[in-house]
Amino acid sequence: MTSCRHDAASHLALSDASVYFSIRGQTICALDSVSLDVREGETVCLVGPSGCGKSTILNLIGGFLSPSSGSVSMEGRAVGAPGADRAVVFQADAVFPWLTVRRNLEYGPRARGRFDDAARERVDHYLELMGLRDFADAYPKMLSGGMRKRVDVARAYVNDPGVILLDEPFGAVDDMTKSHLQRELMRLSVSDGKTSLFITHDIEEAIYLGDRVVVMTPRPGRIKEVIEVPYDRPRDLAIKTTEPFQQLRRRVQATLGEAA
Ligand SMILES: Nc1ncnc2c1ncn2[C@@H]1O[C@H](COP(=O)(O)OP(=O)(O)O)[C@@H](O)[C@H]1O
Ligand SMILES: [Mg+2]
Repeated sequence: MTSCRHDAASHLALSDASVYFSIRGQTICALDSVSLDVREGETVCLVGPSGCGKSTILNLIGGFLSPSSGSVSMEGRAVGAPGADRAVVFQADAVFPWLTVRRNLEYGPRARGRFDDAARERVDHYLELMGLRDFADAYPKMLSGGMRKRVDVARAYVNDPGVILLDEPFGAVDDMTKSHLQRELMRLSVSDGKTSLFITHDIEEAIYLGDRVVVMTPRPGRIKEVIEVPYDRPRDLAIKTTEPFQQLRRRVQATLGEAA
């Protein structure tokens, strides 16, 4: 992905990043001196109580927000504004209802004037990988919420960004659909090895998808603990029912509990 890759270099780095917001004359500290390195190809999952600053971290890396102090960088360069090198997937899908599924996937490359053979291949690749091939000519309103979410995720990957940022993307889907989406994301991570930051409320989801799980404290958000997940990819969904996985879940749960 990069020509000058250093083993020790992190792809994404927050260094002593703090964020203050001013609301009606009151200053609140949303993030307090957070340092976090994400290595190339790694998936880091962020968990923490509501309002602890998870989305704020994502907004910093996405370039939607600047830190009040400290720094945010990607490949050693300061992050200034949003860019096509960082794709974002939110809970509410961003699928265009007036375009077919295929056209939704083509939208990014077309908009950037890069709809070449390679982009065409990527569109087909992600349609296939996300189980969308038979729905390529359907309009989003004909699809279930889970299928629309697949389109949403595929749209982010098709642009071939260096980093994918996901903010509780499966927060509004039912458990069964969520498991399927997690499995598909696992498949994507094996096929692409993209650097990802994944925010979730669901501890099992964080462990299943993450190389590391970062547990945050309540506001002002700080990093409470970083927990390594010792499983290679691809990971089967059935891993969730194993005792070592459940032990890890209890450990993350306990850390979260202490954080409250
Ligand atoms: N644009 C904003 N203006 C004022 N306060 C904000 C803004 N964005 C977030 N906050 C506050 O910062 C804190 C962290 O928010 P957020 O990062 O959204 O938390 P999380 O995603 O972990 O639920 C919350 O107290 C929230 O109310
Ligand atoms: Mg949030």
